[in-house]
Amino acid sequence: MLDKIELAEKNFKNEVVTVKSLESLEELRIKFLGRKGIFTELFEEFKQLPSDEKPKYGQVLNKAKSSAQKVFDELKGKLEKSESEKKVYIDLTLDGREVELGSKHILTQTLDEIKQIFKGLGFSIYEGPELESDHNNFEMLNFPADHPARDMQDTFFVNDNFLLRTHTSPVQVRLMENKQPPIRALMPGKVYRNEAISAKSYCLFHQVEGLYVDEDVTFAELKGTLVVFLKQFFGEDVKYRFRPSFFPFTEPSAEVDVWWQPKGKEGRWLEILGCGMVDPNVLENVKIDNEKYVGYAFGMGVERIAMLKYGVGDIRVFFDNDKRFLKQF
Ligand code: PHE
Repeated sequence: MLDKIELAEKNFKNEVVTVKSLESLEELRIKFLGRKGIFTELFEEFKQLPSDEKPKYGQVLNKAKSSAQKVFDELKGKLEKSESEKKVYIDLTLDGREVELGSKHILTQTLDEIKQIFKGLGFSIYEGPELESDHNNFEMLNFPADHPARDMQDTFFVNDNFLLRTHTSPVQVRLMENKQPPIRALMPGKVYRNEAISAKSYCLFHQVEGLYVDEDVTFAELKGTLVVFLKQFFGEDVKYRFRPSFFPFTEPSAEVDVWWQPKGKEGRWLEILGCGMVDPNVLENVKIDNEKYVGYAFGMGVERIAMLKYGVGDIRVFFDNDKRFLKQF
């Protein structure tokens, strides 16, 4: 028995000097001091000894085990200390991590630019809700219930009376109900249409509505204002045309097309806005004296305008959030 104890002590001493990490120290602990370790087993053996032999070995075995335990504890403390020192070591010579800066979405940039131009022309900015009543979105704008003109705008209805606005024109109604002329306002926002999604149309897009109501407003002023805008936004040599059109809430009405010339492909006209003189019925609906006042209104599609200016061929990329697209702007 004494030999065995001595051998265990010797082996422990030999092995402990090779320990360099907490992991190998743990292996050593299991081997010698663990539940099935060498010292533990010696104690089992000791228990089997006849009682008159016990005193002879008990002390020796206890001493051997506790000195091994002491060596183990000390070494563990040392290793833990050096390990934690390793962790707080900071290499100040390393390069910093690059911070990626975000930027405004291209649609926001386009909207900002449109607002800036119209602010310069004396327009103030107003906004209205995206969840709108049928009353403001259609009825007040001269689209009676069951009127075929409603087919121009496929609508997401929320219930019989409420819908996701199909255009920003209901903001005109809200504004005119709350303010008497002169009114010169720009109303940007999101609009929704229940259309098949394709490169040309999406269920959600942005519009900017413009409204000017005063005593002597003319169609020539409407045209002049829009031409100033087109030239500032697209550049002096922009190619555009005004084309007669129909909207229930303007009379006469027109649409404006801008020439779209993709590189190496055939060009074509792209419609970017609708406009016209505010229909006297609409003024009457909002209780503005239509004998005294006249107005013009326009509504432009922000995505269309951005597509033209930046040569984007598919409206869906504005909503995909693909960094490779967004980073270009
Ligand atoms: N609201 C119309 C549309 O979305 C555009 C428009 C606005 C036309 C104002 C005339 C006047 O199609």
